[in-house]
Amino acid sequence: MQRISFRRPDDWHVHFRDGAVLAEVVPHTARAFGRAVVMPNLAPPVTTTAAATAYRARILAAVPAGIDFSPLTTAYLTDDSDAADLITGHREGVLFGAKLYPAHATTNSQFGVTSIAAIAGVLAAMERAGMPLLVHGEVTGAEVDVFDREARFVETVLVPLLADFPGLKVVLEHVTTAEGVAVVQAHAGRMAATVTPQHLLWDRNALFRGGIRPHLWCLPVLKRSTHKRALRAAVTGGDPSFFLGTDTAPHLRHTKETACGCAGIFSAPTALEAYLTVFAEEGALDRFEAFASLNGPAFHGLPPNEMRVTWEARPRLVAEAIAVPGEGELVPMFAGETVAWSPVATETEAA
Ligand code: DOR
Ligand code: ZN
Repeated sequence: MQRISFRRPDDWHVHFRDGAVLAEVVPHTARAFGRAVVMPNLAPPVTTTAAATAYRARILAAVPAGIDFSPLTTAYLTDDSDAADLITGHREGVLFGAKLYPAHATTNSQFGVTSIAAIAGVLAAMERAGMPLLVHGEVTGAEVDVFDREARFVETVLVPLLADFPGLKVVLEHVTTAEGVAVVQAHAGRMAATVTPQHLLWDRNALFRGGIRPHLWCLPVLKRSTHKRALRAAVTGGDPSFFLGTDTAPHLRHTKETACGCAGIFSAPTALEAYLTVFAEEGALDRFEAFASLNGPAFHGLPPNEMRVTWEARPRLVAEAIAVPGEGELVPMFAGETVAWSPVATETEAA
C-alpha cells in the first residue's frame, strides 16, 4: 500500500467558534495539526489582547489530553483597533497576527474595517513590529459580482495597500483566483497565501451538481476551473509562498440547509485526506510536505514541527454527521463518502 511520511503539518487558517461547537471541533484539528491560526470572527469578535488570551484558554481546554497542539490566536481589526494593544499582544505571543475583514464580506464581519484609511495607523505599527496582516481578500458592495470580488480586491485594495506599507507582511487568506496567485508571486518574500482544500478540489459547477449543495457554499465562493488550475499549479509547483490553510468553518446543519444558509465548509475531520487526494492526482506527493508542513513556518519565521506522521492510501468511510450535544450536528467535508487516504497511527521523532 502506498505510504507517505512528512513532518506534522500546521493549519494556517481555522474557525473554532466557541462553546459547544468549539469543544467538538478543536479535537479534529488538534489530532491532525501541530499548530493552527485561529480566526477571530466570533460574535462579538476577538478584538483585543485580553479577549484573545481568554479565547486561547478556552481552546486549550478543548484539546484532548496527550495531544501536542498550539493554537495561534489572532485579533479582528475594526476601525477602532488600538495599535498599542495589538503590538503588545504580538510581542507577548498572544496575537499571532491581525485579521482584516472588509465590513460585510463574510460571517460576523459586520464589525469589520470600512476603509484601509481607517486602520492606516495600525498597519504602520504592525509593519514596524513585524506583525503579519491576514487578509480576507474580497470587496463588498452589491454592484460587484460575487465571483469577481477577490480579483477586484486585489486590484483596488491589496495592490495599493502593499505599496503604502512596503515592509508589512501580508497573507492573502484562502486565495481562490489566478489574480490572487499572481499578486502573491509578484510580492514573494513579504507575501504569502493559504489555500483551502475545497478550492483545489472543486470549481463552481460543484455547487450545482444535481441540485444546490449548501455544504459546498463558502466564501470566497468556488470559482471557474481556470482558477482551480492556477491554484493547483501554485501549490504543487513547489512555490514556497503557498501553504495549507483549511478555512474549516463549522456551521450547524440547520443553519446551512435553509433558505438563506451560512457560508463555510467544515473540513477539519477530512482536510488532509482532501489535500493528499489533490497532490496524488497531480503526481506531486513529493511536494506535499513543503505545502503542508514547511512553507508556512518558513514564511512566519518559526521552526517546523518535530514529529513526523505517516499516511497511507487506505480507503475510509467518512461519518454522515458529527453531533454537537444540545445544539445539533455538523456535516463534514466528504460526509457519507469514501476518502482515499487514512492516517497510520504512530508518530515518530523527526530524523
Ligand atoms: O466560508 C466562509 N466561512 N468564509 C469566511 O470567510 C468565514 C467563514 C466562517 O467564519 O464561517
Ligand atoms: Zn476563514
